[in-house]
Amino acid sequence: MSVSLTSAIARTLSWFGLEVRKAPEAGKLSIPDAEFYAPLFSPWKGYGEFAEYRKLAQPYTLVSPDRLYVLLGLARHAVQLQGDFWECGVYKGGTARMLAEFLGRNARPGVKLHLFDTFSGMPETEQEVDVHKKGDFSDTSLAAVKQIVANGARVEFHPGWIPESFRDVPDRPIALAHVDVDIYRSVWDCCQFIYPRLQLGGVIVFDDYGFPSCPGARKAVDEYFEGKPETPIILGTGQALAIRLAAG
Ligand SMILES: C[S@@+](CC[C@H](N)C(=O)[O-])C[C@H]1O[C@@H](n2cnc3c(N)ncnc32)[C@H](O)[C@@H]1O
Repeated sequence: MSVSLTSAIARTLSWFGLEVRKAPEAGKLSIPDAEFYAPLFSPWKGYGEFAEYRKLAQPYTLVSPDRLYVLLGLARHAVQLQGDFWECGVYKGGTARMLAEFLGRNARPGVKLHLFDTFSGMPETEQEVDVHKKGDFSDTSLAAVKQIVANGARVEFHPGWIPESFRDVPDRPIALAHVDVDIYRSVWDCCQFIYPRLQLGGVIVFDDYGFPSCPGARKAVDEYFEGKPETPIILGTGQALAIRLAAG
């Protein structure tokens, strides 16, 4: 690239308040944790304490390390609020296992992790909006998940259909909800039940918002938040999240 073209690009970027970041000259600066720059800092590759959580979750989850890392970051935020953690869509229990371990290490006594799934596969889906079919994810069971997710007083399992299974849960504020149910009706039902119970500053994170295998999930989120003060923030990982602006 000629020098004049480089400076033209730099000038154009500066109009937008951006700058060309020059790589440091070799030998002059050593970047801490250089192995995690790929090319940007990518801590989900196993940086620090996250490596332990990733190791716990990975054998039992469909959720990629970058999404696990986002979920863990949101858990660190939410654990400072008053409220329980919820996960809708547990499957083999990988993300639930990570959240249970995180709460065990960090949460005040009394903070619960509520886990919702049929534990026997997807319910009926709608072919106009969903790609998944009834019975997908049926290669799991409640007993198998209980074996790998710490089952102390903190973790409560709610096997059954969402939203019916929400009804037996005491009406307590929610600090973090991980919604990973993949289909239109289930995501919509989660929004409708969880959003009014979200604590001020509480987060609802949708694992499957941006995936072409889950178009119904995006449709449900977009429709639900239309006209709400919160605008869902769409992440490059495929997730989307909303932070409650007014207490429920
Ligand atoms: C993608 S999996 C969850 C993945 C999991 N979080 C992980 O760590 O791999 C989606 C789950 O949502 C559950 N699900 C979807 N709709 C549901 C509903 N209405 N009631 C109960 N479970 C539902 C399915 O049974 C399935 O186990």
